[in-house]
Amino acid sequence: EKGGYEHFMRKEIHEQPASLRQTLSGRIDLDRGAVELDLEFPKGYLSSVEEIQFVACGTSYYASLYAARLFEEIADIRATVSIASEYTFDGGRDPWRTLTIAVTQSGETADTLGAIRRAKRAGAQTLAVTNMLGSSVSREVKNSVFIRAGPEIGVAATKTFASQVTTLALLAVYLGRERGVLSPSDARSILEDLRGLPGGVQQVLDNEASVKEAAVAYQDSDAFFFVGRRHGYPVALEGALKLKEISYDHAEGFAAGELKHGPLALVTDNTPVLAVLTDGGNIPNTVNNLVEAQTRGAPAIGAISESHEIDSLDVGFEVPDAGLFEPLIANVYFQLFAYHVANEKGRPIDKPRNLAKSVTVG
Ligand code: M6R
Repeated sequence: EKGGYEHFMRKEIHEQPASLRQTLSGRIDLDRGAVELDLEFPKGYLSSVEEIQFVACGTSYYASLYAARLFEEIADIRATVSIASEYTFDGGRDPWRTLTIAVTQSGETADTLGAIRRAKRAGAQTLAVTNMLGSSVSREVKNSVFIRAGPEIGVAATKTFASQVTTLALLAVYLGRERGVLSPSDARSILEDLRGLPGGVQQVLDNEASVKEAAVAYQDSDAFFFVGRRHGYPVALEGALKLKEISYDHAEGFAAGELKHGPLALVTDNTPVLAVLTDGGNIPNTVNNLVEAQTRGAPAIGAISESHEIDSLDVGFEVPDAGLFEPLIANVYFQLFAYHVANEKGRPIDKPRNLAKSVTVG
């Protein structure tokens, strides 16, 4: 059932080109620059929405952070993200014009279910983005969009993160077109980047040996810091979560610009800094932040857009051209890095201590 892989996590990381193809299948109309999704909101509703609220936990929360930025950029709409257990929507000024989107792989996360119920009670429209049709969250809402990642057995979410961000990007394009703020040609270029994702992820997977080499070299570090900007920031948070949950090493993600506002005090020659250095994420400033860490002796590991060359890094991984989605591809390097660090340490990768695949208590 693990198809020759030692762990489900590695199998699921490698399934991403195929699962992303499933996520996209039949949903892109390149000629019209449009996205096809089965959504049944009242007529005209989507173009009247004024605010999107995402509610989610863990990896799904990071996928939502990535998506909120996409919604603002692509669909020109205000988008906020709440950790589901911290969500307190009371209806606001105009609940009807608020669309609350629950992002949940399992559809069974108690905190997310509680948040979507609260939104409904306050009068908001609701939508679920989930891997499990028929799940508790999808039964609670009128509309669900299925991420189609296929079953994910490893406790660590991997392919579902990629499919969540991809589905949410489709939704952002859909909304941008509905609202009349996104031209067919701009939509087409985003959709072309999405269509290139499976190939881009495959290029990263083909580089696994070099990621393993870095994991072996740095596995005994005191801690690992992940940094990024814009869409690279949620990917830094996700990279750190993946590493800590399966390797049990201390890992933290930061907005790259925040390093100098405190975390730099933690940086030593035994704390590698892993950075997302992709186009659109202000590479020069992020490199400056990295240099500050390197000055304190920290090794610098970067996932870099293929169009750039940065000589000062200790390790560089190439990220193929993918527009807004380069950080999503960079994330696959972080997944592999976390996997190989944990594997070198002999951790029970698919079932880390103290964790469950779906968290059904609040
Ligand atoms: O099923 P959900 O997406 O609602 O789960 C939310 C989190 O429990 C989940 O993303 C968790 O953080 C991951 N398994 C971590 O890899």
